[in-house]
Amino acid sequence: MNFSNTSATVYNDKVVRQFAIMAVVWGVVGMLVGVIIAAELTWPELGLGIPWISYGRLRPLHTNAVIFAFGGCALFATSYYVVQRTSQVRLFSDQLAAFTFWGWQAVILCAAISLPLGFTQGKEYAELEWPIDILITLVWVSFAVVFFGTIGTRKVRHIYVANWFYGAFILAVALLHLVNSAAIPVSFTKSYSAYAGVQDAMIQWWYGHNAVGFFLTAGFLGMVYYFIPKQAERPVYSYRLSIVHFWALIFTYMWAGPHHLHYTALPDWTQSIGMVFSLILLAPSWGGMINGVMTLSGAWHKLRDDPILRFLIVSLSFYGMSTFEGPMMAIKTVNALSHYTDWTVGHVHSGALGWVGLVSMGSLYYLIPKLFGQKQMHSVKAIELHFWMATIGIVIYIAAMWISGVMQGLMWRAINTDGTLTYTFVESVKATFPFYVLRLLGGALYLSGMVIMLWNTLKTATAGRSVDITIPAVAAHA
Ligand code: HEM
Ligand code: HEM
Repeated sequence: MNFSNTSATVYNDKVVRQFAIMAVVWGVVGMLVGVIIAAELTWPELGLGIPWISYGRLRPLHTNAVIFAFGGCALFATSYYVVQRTSQVRLFSDQLAAFTFWGWQAVILCAAISLPLGFTQGKEYAELEWPIDILITLVWVSFAVVFFGTIGTRKVRHIYVANWFYGAFILAVALLHLVNSAAIPVSFTKSYSAYAGVQDAMIQWWYGHNAVGFFLTAGFLGMVYYFIPKQAERPVYSYRLSIVHFWALIFTYMWAGPHHLHYTALPDWTQSIGMVFSLILLAPSWGGMINGVMTLSGAWHKLRDDPILRFLIVSLSFYGMSTFEGPMMAIKTVNALSHYTDWTVGHVHSGALGWVGLVSMGSLYYLIPKLFGQKQMHSVKAIELHFWMATIGIVIYIAAMWISGVMQGLMWRAINTDGTLTYTFVESVKATFPFYVLRLLGGALYLSGMVIMLWNTLKTATAGRSVDITIPAVAAHA
């Protein structure tokens, strides 16, 4: 901890700056890998027969890079920024905060090397082998100490709702990681899950679904509750709703995992519980979305000329869309059509590109100029351009996946009067081709927007200077 007089009175924004810049850098890298695998699905021969760049190895690299490197760095940056401002104290420990930055970058680097080499535990979103899992645990415990230590030393009595969401994200991810990654190592690069058979599957999808709920949702809702009111210059629409939203969401998410295992060896009643809780989940999700959007009531005109606000509000519309679609897909009879098809991939990316991507970009556009002592980003026009490229890219991507997904589902289940299949599998693959080309186009557009953001960020960072912001004197003492 740094208790020197000067640093104790200013916020620790160095670590926020580092994470914010790296979020943009990893965003470009992760999305580039996304575009590469989208091209490989379209033209499989692009893999050139080289194992390291084969689809099977690059796919987990893409998911890890966008979720944990891009999303993770954005979550670290914004949570460290928000918890200091809303607690009106400096981060609890400068050393531990620095360790979380360098430790997290080391995790990302290890992933970028080990996944293309083919080292994997084979669990989706938890592929990294056990030595990297241990490093993740160390970083995460330090993150928890810094975050909750800052809350513990806060100078205001109240714990602002954004911190509740960030706190739940940190605690739940710790629990998920510890339980799902339990494994027996047989060498430095190979381990076997501590669970077997259907229990292994259940724990994996309890993890997988809550990775969506807590890594890809709760932390980003923390961004919604801080950055939308800030950018709109209005208080949150309903503070009471935000509390109901928080508890309902936290309680419900934990039970919905079995919807990933419909029609499997998992006991039928467990699948039904997953379905019912998924349907219930619609209510808190929409409560949160409405609370965020309505924060703008009376100030809708701001959307016309504020591209940052547009990023934030449109992200909430995609959040609403994917949390409507998800419960529908969790209904067993709907899942019978959607499962294994591109419909799932469309759903994933309406959440990932539309919700997680846009809310991170909006929050980072708010943060970056402030972190470098600038009034605004180097080019506001470029933010505007980025917004349209991203939005059009998402629409092309998800519309292509919906059409191809429903088409695949229908082709696979079509049966002739004599009981034979109407289509061979390869016919469905052929029919999917044009939609893969379209998805590639949408993805490339989305990636290009992100490259523009990187340029804008570097221009803003190099034109400005790192500033130390003094913590205001606090009247209401805890
Ligand atoms: C330029 C943008 C992107 C492109 C072109 C892209 C492309 C792809 C492709 C081709 C796949 C494999 C689909 C399949 O298995 O059939 C995929 C999977 C996935 N991507 Fe992306 N992606 C992009 C951005 C993102 C972002 C920003 C996120 C998260 C924040 C994300 C999260 C995921 C996830 C979770 C999966 C696994 C889906 C599943 O298992 O059903 N992607 N992506
Ligand atoms: C109320 C909220 C939601 C519910 C009930 C829900 C439900 C579902 C269902 C039923 C599936 C398909 C499972 C399958 O057939 O294999 C699915 C897949 C998925 N959803 Fe959602 N979803 C919700 C929100 C979201 C959001 C907001 C995101 C992203 C930010 C997201 C990310 C994913 C991912 C990554 C998968 C693919 C998992 C995999 O197979 O690898 N979901 N979801």
